[in-house]
Amino acid sequence: MTQADIGVLGLGVMGRNLALNIADRRFSVVGYERDPALLTQAMATAEGLIVHGELERFVASIKRPRALLLMITAGPPVDQSIKALLPLLSPGDVLVDAGNSDYQDTGRREALLRQARIGYLGLGVSGGEEGARHGPALMAGGASAAYARVAPVLTAIAARADDGASCAARLGNAAAVGHFVKMMHNGIEYADMQLIAEIHDLLSRGYQLPAREISDVFAGWTNGPLASFLIEATATVLRRTDTETGMPLVDLVLDTAGQKGTGRLASIAALEFAVAAPSIAEAVAARVVSSLKDQRAAASVRFSRPVGDLPLLDQQQLADALLAGKICAYAQGFAVLSVASQAHGWELALDQVARIWRAGCIIRARFLDDVAAAFGSTPALTNLIMAPEFASTLERTVPALRAVVTACVASGIPAPALSASLAYFDGYVSARLPANLIQAQRDCFGSHGYQRIDRPGTFHSDWSAAE
Ligand code: 6PG
Repeated sequence: MTQADIGVLGLGVMGRNLALNIADRRFSVVGYERDPALLTQAMATAEGLIVHGELERFVASIKRPRALLLMITAGPPVDQSIKALLPLLSPGDVLVDAGNSDYQDTGRREALLRQARIGYLGLGVSGGEEGARHGPALMAGGASAAYARVAPVLTAIAARADDGASCAARLGNAAAVGHFVKMMHNGIEYADMQLIAEIHDLLSRGYQLPAREISDVFAGWTNGPLASFLIEATATVLRRTDTETGMPLVDLVLDTAGQKGTGRLASIAALEFAVAAPSIAEAVAARVVSSLKDQRAAASVRFSRPVGDLPLLDQQQLADALLAGKICAYAQGFAVLSVASQAHGWELALDQVARIWRAGCIIRARFLDDVAAAFGSTPALTNLIMAPEFASTLERTVPALRAVVTACVASGIPAPALSASLAYFDGYVSARLPANLIQAQRDCFGSHGYQRIDRPGTFHSDWSAAE
């Protein structure tokens, strides 16, 4: 029997679809699934795919040096699979973790497998089920020799941007890079979704527009600077009617947001690297607050929302506010990537990251062409806000963001991500901040010392002295 070019371990929704995508690109692929129910399902739905329920047979059926894609739940299952696979693998084989693993686990696993001379790649996969089947964005990290073994497959199955470029790339030498970049993708995804949800809330609870009309507003933005998958998806879901009740389906969906944790990890990473990413953090917090449904219901009886007329805002102002909020959120996400890359010596090319996010992934957007161009022309760009094109856009759109946040604040409509983006912008463009007072307080109660603006050195004062 001829041996397969690649094996996919784990045939849940993502694994099955990735395997089918690989087969479509004329690579021979073999699958493995431990769970009998998923194995049966894969056999029934994945026509033409050879699947095994026995690990030894699966590994033996892959061409040497073997390439195996792990498409399993992040966390302990990855360690368990590696442990089971190790005795069956040979030096030179390559394992690719294509799940949403914590990047620190990926670094640890790479070091472990290096001892056995097994190549290890961390692969961020974005695009959900549809992407896995027809073209995801693939963010790889790891040694070039290991990547070379799987590059033809990954390049072929990935989405293509409008210019025809494959949205698969090796972004750095360390396996952890792939999962770090995917984690930040998800942090940005959280912020983007929350910003959209806040504009929706203002239109829905604030201006009392029905879902269908709000859908039309978002649909009107699918061709401008906001053109993106998430805007399209928003217009789509807002249009859907529940067949039983005739109501907009979205209005019947329980308002508690789930999360698998990558947004939270992105936010934790930002804090660890001391990078301000408040729009991402607020998006995570908003999901947490949303999950307190019973507490919110009880509190809503105790406190009422302010009443009064909302200022008239036109659709262009809402679009501009969203765009400004989005630029600030992306600026934060890229700042985290930049600082983490410097700290770890990853030499991450931020323009390349933006380029492979242009298609296939959840945050795919026209906007990312401009982000790629900004980092491409100035690789050492300190903040996306300062790229000439984004600076001009912000100059034009921040007044609308201010107006929208003001309207939300006045009417008691929570807009944590929009507000955080605005505060981030206002802070970043302030030459002087009240941190002088923070420093004085720190020195007053803890003798932490402070610096002065008028002379060099570190100072300490007795703040309670009369003069
Ligand atoms: C992607 C997504 C995906 C993520 C889901 C759900 O890029 O395809 O980011 O990886 O798992 O979007 O994430 P949450 O459950 O955390 O919202």
